[in-house]
Amino acid sequence: MNREDFNFLKQDVIYFDNGATTLKPYILADNISDYYNNYSANAHRGDYDISLKVNAKVAETRDLVKDFINANNSSEVIFTSGATDSLNKIVFGYFRDYLKENDEVLLTKSEHASIVLPWFELADELNLNINYIPLDNDLKVTMDNVIKSITPKTKVIALSHITNVVGDIRPIKEIIEYAHKNGIIVLVDGAQSVPHMKVDVQDLDIDFLAFSAHKMCGPTGLGILYGKEKYLNNIKPIIFGGGMNASFEFDGTRLYKNNPSLLEAGTPNIAGIIGFGEIIKYLNNIGMDNISLYEKKLRNYAINRLKEISDIIIYNENSDSGIITFNKKNIFPQDLSLYLNKHNICVRAGSHCAKILKDDLGIKNTCRISLYFYNTKEEIDKLVSLLKNTNILDEII
Ligand SMILES: Cc1ncc(COP(=O)(O)O)c(C=O)c1O
Repeated sequence: MNREDFNFLKQDVIYFDNGATTLKPYILADNISDYYNNYSANAHRGDYDISLKVNAKVAETRDLVKDFINANNSSEVIFTSGATDSLNKIVFGYFRDYLKENDEVLLTKSEHASIVLPWFELADELNLNINYIPLDNDLKVTMDNVIKSITPKTKVIALSHITNVVGDIRPIKEIIEYAHKNGIIVLVDGAQSVPHMKVDVQDLDIDFLAFSAHKMCGPTGLGILYGKEKYLNNIKPIIFGGGMNASFEFDGTRLYKNNPSLLEAGTPNIAGIIGFGEIIKYLNNIGMDNISLYEKKLRNYAINRLKEISDIIIYNENSDSGIITFNKKNIFPQDLSLYLNKHNICVRAGSHCAKILKDDLGIKNTCRISLYFYNTKEEIDKLVSLLKNTNILDEII
């Protein structure tokens, strides 16, 4: 779908690393260069027309994001530098005050470093207990296991909507409903879900959500922190400076603004925000439901084709997203990715930042293809024909 929108795709390269970052359509660079060339003033700093135009553009993107995830209010949408930044701001800005010694935080072992490590740090600081919801044989999170893992001390569940290695879509709505009945707040890492499916924060009743623009055709260096107003009213900034204060005096008295400004100290990534606004419109035009349906069909096609190869081990055959994790028997995954690279195919090899999944997965390193709406069956066919080669090692030595 929409391949003509991407300059990158004019090359003879097959890009299957969309979980890491996606390709960018022309409109992104066009809008960013329009800002830098024609109206590159700061936001919230001037009373002249050009600065006011910048303010309006930033506000427009915030509104677009609000509608895209169906937030209740634009002030619940905070611009950050990425999902990692959003997650850190939530963990340290909200939960540092909310939690106390011996409270329990539930994670899973397939989470990304960007959600696990902030929790490890806060757990050390506050003496929290981190526990893990067990994964089933398909490496999925089931409601049964969520229910079994909750204790009276559980205060937070923090997990991805879709994981970046196994690509399983978690039953987020049910998890949140059950958690809320037990007074538990749920932090959702939407880095791999928001780009690929409709995520409606009100329908799912999400408390906190984090995601990155660059994984959904947008610019690098920009992410979103969504939080329900009632939580954002009690969040503290972890970065201080211009833009977030209303006043300060020589004796240290200071008055801070409300959100979204409170969590957006310093000059924001204006060019990125403006570009991202166009990307939200672009994705809306394609339709998020069309994107997820297309990816699902392409995934099924890829799984069926990969299963033709007897020495390919697929680790997540029963997942639903466009992420497929596999190995070829007796070949180190990095060697396999180097071989594919020689044939202009980009795949990811390694532990994919989910370093504590290795026990459940039964292996430390894998190859991963992660699809997006511009990938095609023909690209999968090319991959499969290369993987059928029985002399791969000869090629890379
Ligand atoms: C599930 C998940 N969470 C968080 C992140 C971090 O995103 P970023 O590096 O854009 O901050 C990633 C990136 O791969 C991810 O896949």
